[in-house]
Amino acid sequence: MRNLMSPLDFTTEELDRLFDLANDIEHNPGKYAHACEGKILATCFYEPSTRTRLSFESAMTRLGGRVIGFSDAASSSAAKGESVSDTIRVISCYADICAMRHPKEGAPMVAGEKSLIPVINAGDGGHQHPTQTLTDLLTIRSMKGRLNGFTIGLCGDLKFGRTVHSLINALVRYQDIKFIFISPEELKVPDYITDMLREKNIAYEEVIRLEDVMPKLDLLYMTRVQKERFFNEEDYIRLKDFYILNMDKLALAKEDMLVLHPLPRVNEISVEVDDDPRAAYFKQAQYGVFVRMALILTLLELA
Ligand code: CP
Repeated sequence: MRNLMSPLDFTTEELDRLFDLANDIEHNPGKYAHACEGKILATCFYEPSTRTRLSFESAMTRLGGRVIGFSDAASSSAAKGESVSDTIRVISCYADICAMRHPKEGAPMVAGEKSLIPVINAGDGGHQHPTQTLTDLLTIRSMKGRLNGFTIGLCGDLKFGRTVHSLINALVRYQDIKFIFISPEELKVPDYITDMLREKNIAYEEVIRLEDVMPKLDLLYMTRVQKERFFNEEDYIRLKDFYILNMDKLALAKEDMLVLHPLPRVNEISVEVDDDPRAAYFKQAQYGVFVRMALILTLLELA
């Protein structure tokens, strides 16, 4: 039995197979419409979500399986003090696979150790968000045709952003990737990440102004400044609109640059950008369903 806690749990060869499967599902959905008949996915979400929970539910439904779960810790027995370990032992009696989101870093891993069914980390605090990373990689591979030879700008909350941490960890395994980290001083990427990049001799630079680096980028990964990760409201208010990607800034970018965003967005991308062919974030959300379908099939050993 296999869990997914980090994108590094799969080798790059396994990821290639997963993405090939996701692309096949995209083009031949009928082939997979009954693949999970009789199987049940449990979605255990202790933190809010739109995309991750509903794309998992959509994925299992499109595979012919069924879904149970909760979307709020307050409506589960966590509100009565039940531990994640006990919850997963019980969920193991009800479902065949579980996707879990939790505000505490490492909680899905604790669940995975006690579970009798595969557990997927659907986001744990500011730590990892592996299925978002699978979504990001599939989007890049499908729209650019490769996962190497890029300059990628990551912009916004690089300190608390679990999607950013997961994506960097995953991309360092590909050739010829250069990172440009664009953030205010207070939201810089953690030292453990820059230490790791230096150790691996991977090129990166850290800047404050998006405009200064826009012409160099092949990919721009925008992120939201996350209100829920701040300890005081004053800092959040000061930083929340630090970056707003609008058409004036996008005019500085390459014609074929892709704008990615894990979503939800608040103000960091103006809605006018949505109609630009470089805006890939809604397509990215759609790839999230295909890759989660491929992941469910793989972890249930049905692929
Ligand atoms: N990208 C993402 O994780 O979105 P949700 O928080 O809506 O699941």
